[in-house]
Amino acid sequence: MNFKLTGEQESIKNTIRKFAETKIEPIAFQLDEKNMFPEEIVREMGQLSFMGLPYPLKYGGAAKDVLSYIIAVEELSRVDAGVGVILSAHVSLASWPIMEFGTENQKEKYLTPLASGKKIGAFGLTEENAGSDAGGTETTAVLNGDYYILNGAKVFITNAGYADTYVIFAVTTPGIGTKGISAFIVEKEWKGFTFGTHYNKMGIRSSATAELLFHNVKVPKENLLGKEGEGFKIAMMTLEGGRIGIAAQALGIAQGAYEKALNYAKERIQFGKPISRQQSIAFKLADMTTKIRAARFMVYSAAVLKQEHESYGTESAMAKLYASDICLEVVNDAVQIYGGSGYIKGFAVERMYRDAKICTIYEGTNEIQKLVISNSILGKPKKTSSENTAGNTADVAAKKSASKAITGNRKRVIIKEGTAEEKVHKFLSYLDSENMKIESNSAVHLGDNIGEADRVCSIGLGLASKDDLPIIQELAQSMGAQLGCSRPFAEEREWLPLNRFVGISGQKFKGSFYMAIGISGQIQHLGGIRDAKIITAINIDENAPIFSNADYGIVGDLYEIVPVLNRILKEKGL
Ligand code: CAA
Repeated sequence: MNFKLTGEQESIKNTIRKFAETKIEPIAFQLDEKNMFPEEIVREMGQLSFMGLPYPLKYGGAAKDVLSYIIAVEELSRVDAGVGVILSAHVSLASWPIMEFGTENQKEKYLTPLASGKKIGAFGLTEENAGSDAGGTETTAVLNGDYYILNGAKVFITNAGYADTYVIFAVTTPGIGTKGISAFIVEKEWKGFTFGTHYNKMGIRSSATAELLFHNVKVPKENLLGKEGEGFKIAMMTLEGGRIGIAAQALGIAQGAYEKALNYAKERIQFGKPISRQQSIAFKLADMTTKIRAARFMVYSAAVLKQEHESYGTESAMAKLYASDICLEVVNDAVQIYGGSGYIKGFAVERMYRDAKICTIYEGTNEIQKLVISNSILGKPKKTSSENTAGNTADVAAKKSASKAITGNRKRVIIKEGTAEEKVHKFLSYLDSENMKIESNSAVHLGDNIGEADRVCSIGLGLASKDDLPIIQELAQSMGAQLGCSRPFAEEREWLPLNRFVGISGQKFKGSFYMAIGISGQIQHLGGIRDAKIITAINIDENAPIFSNADYGIVGDLYEIVPVLNRILKEKGL
């Protein structure tokens, strides 16, 4: 096993390297800077057959081996790791489970356009409360006639919004743990399927990452992938392959950073000679190239095992663990070799340094890889009854609601039914029952400190335009509350001053009444309102985490609810 590439593998590598260097490298800085998904590049990758490299010709693929595909991810990542993960998520995570578990019809309908690059794929497993603990999935799919009705939300999904076809995991039988999870193929255009905003990430910024939101999405029965209850197994098996892709991504980043550092070290003269001739730098380069070579053997060997249908789960975990760990070391050394210049935007190693970190986190953190590897040598430890997700329904429900409740033990009275008018009346009657006397207070203004306020009404990205802010200001005024907001509302949109945002890194609210309007309730926000006496929420998504963390809430469009609330409060003379 000397991993000498075949003529065909060499030629694929050269083609992709040339493509990456001529088409992607010149725009990599801009893609990163603008957080921009390279639609044209992805379209061209489809035309060049990169998007279905390991899949059969009959399904639109290029019928190449797994190693050729892995080299493609490596070569793209050598130049731009965001583009590398677009390919890896598309091929390994979205297309592979359809190839492996799909019916003939599903393969024709969904795999063929994916593998031929006409459509883009994504994989939706991770949720707010199901990250490393993927078995904690809370999205549900309830069979109703010929359709499953899908409700829930997925977070951190690569290719979200740009992908046409999504492999989604949801609970079909609650209360039986991982055996109750099923996989579905979901189309982007289906009613009730929407997306959160594209995250503002540290690195891999040319790839799109966002939330997937499902509200009563009708998924035809024939879009069940595999059998009911097989979803967790499908997810785990898919990730075994996906992890080779991430290992290749890490390998590519390390290779790219090493080459840049090597060239720089040969050119940069200090103390009268190139710094590459200083032993401290020469030894760094020696370490970098040695680590990369070891990682490459591991990554390629996992790919070959997969190609040969041997077991490869442990080896892919090892490859991802090692390649991503050494990638961080290599990019760190590369920036160090560049010195001050490496810290400046526009030098690729600065971007690579940021891109590298995600490889130790996604597709299973490196801690999870160690769990997979140690289980393979020691056997899986027996789970205690409290750890066992396959406990009874009540246990599972209690565990789930405990994990959701970041703000402690809340009443969670959520009003979903009725007209906007009925919902608002009900909501106000609950506040009455809390002896919450609502009174307008015109003395409250933006300069006041939220940390000392008794009441705050906060607004989030549910507000479509800054011009609509007056309806929220009116509400805050009527409630005698100060105006707050979510972090992105202040930091990214800049629609309110920075001293208005509530959250772990912002203002902490400790008063008696908090209202979150159009705020989904990310941990960052909830961490800032833990000490509020009463938390209330208005949100269009009944699955938004804010409702699990509120005492009272209204499910509804803020543009319908807030004006009614404003009118009724006015009628009451407030
Ligand atoms: N292959 C087949 N089946 C498997 C399997 C595998 N590798 N691993 C587990 N299973 C099945 C088994 O049938 C097992 O049932 P048995 O009781 O019959 O053995 C069942 O699943 C449950 O397995 P576990 O008890 O091991 O499950 P667990 O709840 O303890 O979790 C875990 C195991 C390894 C921690 C798993 O949850 C895991 O991998 N977590 C990490 C999740 C992850 O990698 N997420 C990445 C998201 S995607 C992403 O990041 C993409 C991106 O952005 C690009």
